[in-house]
Amino acid sequence: AFEDNTVVTVFGASGDLSKKKTFPALFGLFREGYLHDTTKIIGYARSNLSDDDLREKIKPHLKTRNGKEDEGKIERFLKMVSYISGPYDENQGYETLKTEIEKFEKEKGVKQPHRLFYFALPPSVFVTVATQIKKLVYAKNGITRVVVEKPFGHDLQSSRELQEKLSPLFTEEELFRIDHYLGKEMVKNLVLYRFGNTFLNAAWNRENIQMVQISFKEPFGTEGRGGYFDQIGIIRDVMQNHLLQILTLLTMERPVSFDPESIRDEKVKVLKAFAPIDTKDILIGQYAKSEDGSKPGYLDDETVSPESKCVTFAALGFKIHNERWDGVPIVMRAGKALNEGKVEIRIQFKAVPSGIFNDIPNNELVIRVQPNEAIYLKCNSKTPGLATTTQVTELDLTYSSRYKDYWIPEAYEALIRDVLIGDHSNFVRDDELDVSWKLFTPLLNYLEGPDAPQPELYPYGSRGPKNLIKYLEDHKYVFEKEGLYQWPIACPD
Ligand code: BG6
Repeated sequence: AFEDNTVVTVFGASGDLSKKKTFPALFGLFREGYLHDTTKIIGYARSNLSDDDLREKIKPHLKTRNGKEDEGKIERFLKMVSYISGPYDENQGYETLKTEIEKFEKEKGVKQPHRLFYFALPPSVFVTVATQIKKLVYAKNGITRVVVEKPFGHDLQSSRELQEKLSPLFTEEELFRIDHYLGKEMVKNLVLYRFGNTFLNAAWNRENIQMVQISFKEPFGTEGRGGYFDQIGIIRDVMQNHLLQILTLLTMERPVSFDPESIRDEKVKVLKAFAPIDTKDILIGQYAKSEDGSKPGYLDDETVSPESKCVTFAALGFKIHNERWDGVPIVMRAGKALNEGKVEIRIQFKAVPSGIFNDIPNNELVIRVQPNEAIYLKCNSKTPGLATTTQVTELDLTYSSRYKDYWIPEAYEALIRDVLIGDHSNFVRDDELDVSWKLFTPLLNYLEGPDAPQPELYPYGSRGPKNLIKYLEDHKYVFEKEGLYQWPIACPD
């Protein structure tokens, strides 16, 4: 197959991302039999390392699944990895890379080279590296694939500038913009779950849905990354990209087929129906010291200006002007330094008509992306026995109990596999990126401009700003009466 004798070059090989994500994902694929053992993996970075230095660095991050047998695979995998040290902006290192790649391909008798270049790099060198690749190591008679990581610009203008510089070098076919949320198992399940279930599909609209909520919670702050995060903020960090991807998959129309362009066409189409984000319809926060004083506030980070208004928590209201969604409140919320780590989607359905029931809770479909993937539908059922009262119960698909023997790939494993086989379905297309920045840039300008509002402080380790409950109620979320229902694994918020 064409995947044989592929050469994967990881730029930024000595950095954190490649150590923790890229190499472990390549290994995960190898371990499961999805990366051919004829693959050559070359790490490239400026640091002066030997092949063995790089292997030592990545080895502790390679995970086994089947004990002993996988130990052997680690050793085999590490033998496939080598290292080249070179500058990003001069020919010299790329010349070495070219010699190595060509030597390998010649030895193997490769007729149609397959070269994959992975950018685990800061955005400041994206274009430089891309230019050098095109000049010196592009597979002229074969397939070149380039994987780029966020940030894809900082706002609409810088994203367009980046795109203008990359597009003369590589076609959309050759470019893979990673948003690792698109590789998560539950996110990949969304389209299937929606359109593969008649009853859900039939109820997925403004007639039946009360409100939609997507939430991202992290239990840690910026911890030493403050200086970097200050320029980014939670909205760019996870909302404009990861959560918007989830929202798009939740709200788009049914694609005509599963081919990548059909899916991405639908995503762009629904994004165009989004109303501009109303800057009055947001709730922003910044974390302060924890209540017991043991955890620092955001501003305690020395690399951050004491006046910083950087947003570490945000709840944003979205409106979609189309037949399916008109009038349905949609809330996206994300925060750092909260009480728990969790990413989930809540679709709350409308109340049943009044009459025979008194105060019966709304149905709610909860899709937990992480941790412990689960989908559960809260529904009302008669209390068993002679009583005639109702009880909230759930139809529950918890992956860990239902799918015990399955291998659920890590996001990066799934996505790198897609790159290897050239499937773009789970990657961000240029026009999609453009609409997403169009949507978020005015909000970011407001939050970073001269009239930027002061974020509400919330204690590290709390549920977020105090006003969150009111904010959700204003968006028609109906909270359950206390004690009525308790999900055994993770309580709703
Ligand atoms: C990254 C953000 O893109 O996503 C991080 O830069 C965030 O700040 C991370 O922690 C979350 O990813 P995951 O897969 O751990 O949910």
